[in-house]
Amino acid sequence: MVILDGKTLAKKIRLSIKKEVNQFKEKGIIPGLAFILVGDNPASQVYVNMKTKACEEVGIYSINHRMPKEINEKELVDVIKMLNDNPMVHGILVQLPLPEHIDEEKIIEAIDYKKDIDGFHPYNMGRLARGNPLFSSCTPLGIMKLLEKYSIDVKGKDVVMVGAGNITGKPMALMLTNAGATVQICHIHTRNLKEKTKVADILISAVGKPGLIKEDMVKEGAVVIDVGISRVEGKVVGDIDFENVSQKVSHITPVPGGVGPMTIAMLLYNTLQSVKLKEQ
Ligand code: GUN
Repeated sequence: MVILDGKTLAKKIRLSIKKEVNQFKEKGIIPGLAFILVGDNPASQVYVNMKTKACEEVGIYSINHRMPKEINEKELVDVIKMLNDNPMVHGILVQLPLPEHIDEEKIIEAIDYKKDIDGFHPYNMGRLARGNPLFSSCTPLGIMKLLEKYSIDVKGKDVVMVGAGNITGKPMALMLTNAGATVQICHIHTRNLKEKTKVADILISAVGKPGLIKEDMVKEGAVVIDVGISRVEGKVVGDIDFENVSQKVSHITPVPGGVGPMTIAMLLYNTLQSVKLKEQ
């Protein structure tokens, strides 16, 4: 059994990004990323802090816009418009989730798709769906890089994606389909989940429900990817019952240290892509 070490790969990627960032700086171009955080969701605060730190480490200049949860849609759109027009800003990241009274779709569509380093804008989702991506969502992109690193060819494989969200499940299914996998997406309404997951060559779970994927739901020798991040009794855990599932698989990602660090590395990667798009 091989543990897919996202932490080490992410570190390597960050180092190579740092070099490229320095090359841009030598030419007088400073890569810039703007974060928008609305409200005081503790998990979102942790994520934005981690991403800000990662930017600092590779030399990407970051701006943080923190706004109270009472802000209205127009005020938020105005900030985005200002960042769209700011030539120092190559990427705009609005941390999700947003407060209930704000229409997430409207906000995402307000971002210039050329600065949409999250890959959430319908233009970028559409490009991915057509097999011609510009910016793609960081978590699935990181998973593709991790599979590549360990020479896990997805072509012709049966993949089951548990979770159909816009951030991971849907773009993941598109990337894998583009790469020649046969993909099934399962979600909250899926009947007999076990029947589906049991036949997967590659099983990916992005639900956020600790212990969802048990040993008897996984095929012998499968590749298992855990995108879940939950906190149980002060410990960070994924969706997969790691202790038991790891006994029968060929490859598995740990939580923490698997997909999480890859997501952040891909955010930096996308920001650098945006710089290249604009400046080269
Ligand atoms: N919330 C959870 N994951 C993400 C992400 O990758 N990007 C943003 N902007 N918000 C998120």
